[in-house]
Amino acid sequence: MASLLAVLAVMVNAQWADFHVIPQPQQVAVTTGARPFVLDRSVEVVTSVADESMQRNAQFLRQYVAQTSGITLSGGGRRCIVLRCDLTDRNPEAYCLRVTCDTVEINGASSAGVFHGLNTLRKALPAGVWQRVALPCGAVYDYPRFAYRGAHLDVCRHFFTVDEVKTFIDMLALHGINNFHWHLTDDQGWRIEIKRYPRLTQVGAWRDSTVIGRNSGRWNKERHGGFYTQEEAREVVRYAAERHINVIPEIEMPGHTQAVLASYPELGCTGGPYGVWTCWGVTPKVLCPGNDDTFTFIRNVLNEVMDVFPSPIIGIGGDECPKDRWRVCSKCQARIRKEGLTAQGGISPEAQLQGLITHFASEVITARGRAPMGWDEILECDVPQQAVVLSWRGQEGAVDGARRGNRVILSPTSHMYFDYYQSRDTEREPYAFGGYIPVQKVYDFEAVPESLSPEQAELVMGCQANLWTEYIETFSHVQYMELPRMAALCETQWTMPERKDYSSFLSRLPRLLAHYRLLGYNYARHVCE
Ligand code: ACM
Ligand code: ZN
Repeated sequence: MASLLAVLAVMVNAQWADFHVIPQPQQVAVTTGARPFVLDRSVEVVTSVADESMQRNAQFLRQYVAQTSGITLSGGGRRCIVLRCDLTDRNPEAYCLRVTCDTVEINGASSAGVFHGLNTLRKALPAGVWQRVALPCGAVYDYPRFAYRGAHLDVCRHFFTVDEVKTFIDMLALHGINNFHWHLTDDQGWRIEIKRYPRLTQVGAWRDSTVIGRNSGRWNKERHGGFYTQEEAREVVRYAAERHINVIPEIEMPGHTQAVLASYPELGCTGGPYGVWTCWGVTPKVLCPGNDDTFTFIRNVLNEVMDVFPSPIIGIGGDECPKDRWRVCSKCQARIRKEGLTAQGGISPEAQLQGLITHFASEVITARGRAPMGWDEILECDVPQQAVVLSWRGQEGAVDGARRGNRVILSPTSHMYFDYYQSRDTEREPYAFGGYIPVQKVYDFEAVPESLSPEQAELVMGCQANLWTEYIETFSHVQYMELPRMAALCETQWTMPERKDYSSFLSRLPRLLAHYRLLGYNYARHVCE
């Protein structure tokens, strides 16, 4: 009787968990009227298998619960949370979360599935400091719609520290995003140590000055830069992997390479001198494909990068490469003659030179069992079969790529560019690239283009948001641009279209925003206004 009264007291006074989190799980069934599971410090976390990854999951759960609700799960009572990893499911990331009055069981089809399950439990909790939280009895069965759920961060235009990058990864983990596309090289800075080419970070990681605003013609005259040692990059990879996130390094070629030329001018068409770029945009100073050393450079760099990053996908850029210099470079023209490249089907010989680089990089990467990933410009000539196409100039790249049998990822400027404004009242916003992509626009994005056949649609791996940082100097500003658009993104990546509903999303958002506040994340408030 006393215990029944205690339970009743809990049900009346307690904080309640709500499993309708973001992203919305595929199935949530709550048994109304049943005695809840009372989460308090006496609850024990146990794992059914003793492997390291599951132990780490248990540790994350304890840490997340403490962080979110102030409850330190210490055991000693009769109730427990059991983590298992033997769910049979077609989706390797699926999980099932079952709640009865004395047990919570999270069973995943993999350790990643278990991690998603404990993240759902964490987000179901009301953020705050509580003695106990009541979990309603019932079951959540869940799996992600897309295998690839990506977020990109440009650390070249502005550099972010290892700790900031780790916080970015924490943000991805909170949102069930499983691929971090790390944009490591660009005209304005080279950010990853390459032992065979030390000048890339001695010279290429630093610029003397930065143009103010959108190429205003005025500069701030402040040195800016930084880079990650290979050891630091490995640490980031490890940190992400613990959270079931893959890190895709991106090494731009043949364009967006002025920082390379500043370091090794012999790799450019004119031989320089070049400087690390202090403006924004697209520069004609690109790698010279007429030079054999350029190919050696690409091979050596990619091999070192693959030693550091175990990712099955390696980014090779490929976007925005002007061919002006190649048209007048004797070495490039000699290469065109030697390879017998002639204008064909509207494709210039110079465009085919870029194709030569794409194919060369692709061979280096596939020789080690990985796949190259490039922006949709790689479709401008014949594209390697293994290449993953990142469709950014609309959806056309994805449609074209999938029709050619390539795997594709949707990242169009129309919906997935988080460097764009999120409010029409741009006067009151921090300076941004332009455009207008509010939360609802991100939410309403459908990643599978309608024009694809069912077979072609199978080649859509998922979608990804990009954050270019020309006008983003601080990590707090990074968070402001990402949050809460990342919440809308993750539901688009995770939840089946028939379960998406923007007004339901808005009703679930305040609970997630409370988590942001608790974690100290800066976020934009427009959806609350
Ligand atoms: C890009 O936004 N240049 C891929
Ligand atoms: Zn050249």
